[in-house]
Amino acid sequence: QGRGDLSGRRVVVSAGGTREPLDPVRYLGNRSSGKQGHALAAAAAARGAQVTLVTSAAADLPDVDVVTIETALQLRDAMHAAAADADVVVMAAAVADFRPATYAPSKIKKTHEVGPDGAEDDSAPTIALVRNPDILAELVESRGASPAPIIVGFAAETGDENGSVLDHGRAKLERKGCDVLVVNEVGEGKTFGADDNTVTVLRRGSAESVEVGPATKAAVSDAVWDVVVTLL
Ligand code: C5P
Repeated sequence: QGRGDLSGRRVVVSAGGTREPLDPVRYLGNRSSGKQGHALAAAAAARGAQVTLVTSAAADLPDVDVVTIETALQLRDAMHAAAADADVVVMAAAVADFRPATYAPSKIKKTHEVGPDGAEDDSAPTIALVRNPDILAELVESRGASPAPIIVGFAAETGDENGSVLDHGRAKLERKGCDVLVVNEVGEGKTFGADDNTVTVLRRGSAESVEVGPATKAAVSDAVWDVVVTLL
C-alpha cells in the first residue's frame, strides 16, 4: 500500500450513525460506532490525502479536518459542501432512513393533563416518521456526467432467501450508481462496534471482488484505498 499514493488528493469520509431528535432530550439512533469511517480517514491521511471527516462520533485524528454533525440533514449539507471539490467521497455513515416528522421543542411528558378536571392521559404517544434523503444517491446525481468525485458506498447486508450477501451488494451497487461498494456481512456480534471487520469490495462494471478480513478496520481501510487508487 503506497504511502503517499493519495498525496494531493482531497478525500471526504462520513462516519457514525445519525441521531434524529424527538425533543431536547431524546433521539432515534443506531449502533454505528464510527470506527470504520474514522479508520478510513486516518488511512487516507497516512497515504498523503487532505482529509475531511464528517462524523457524529468523537474524533481526534491528526491531520484530519473533522466536521461534527448529528442529524441526517446536517450530514447531507456537510457532504454536499465538502464533495464539491473532492476527488473521493466515502459514505461510511449509518444514515437513519427515517426521522421524526416533528421536533417537540420541550420535553415530551409521560402524562399530560387533559380537561378542566385535571384528568391525566397516560396513553403512549405515536411517533410519526418521515423519510430522510438518500445522501449517497444525491451525491451520485449531483456528480452527473463528471468523472469526479469517485464515490464509495457501504452496505450492511444479510443473506436471505432472495440471494446471498454478495447478490444483494451487487444489486445495491447498480441501484445506487456509486463506483465502489464495500459490503459488510452483518448479524449477531458482527461489525457494529467491533474492532475487526470482514468485507467484500465491489467495483461497478467489474465482476471481480476483493475479500478482506477478518482484519482490523485499519487493514480493511487500506484495502479499500488500494481499490480506489486504481480508479483515480
Ligand atoms: O440503502 P442502504 O442504507 O443500505 O445504503 C447504504 C449506503 O448508503 C451507505 O453508504 C450509506 O452511507 C448511504 N446512505 C445515505 N443516505 C441514506 C441511507 C444510506 O447516504 N439515507
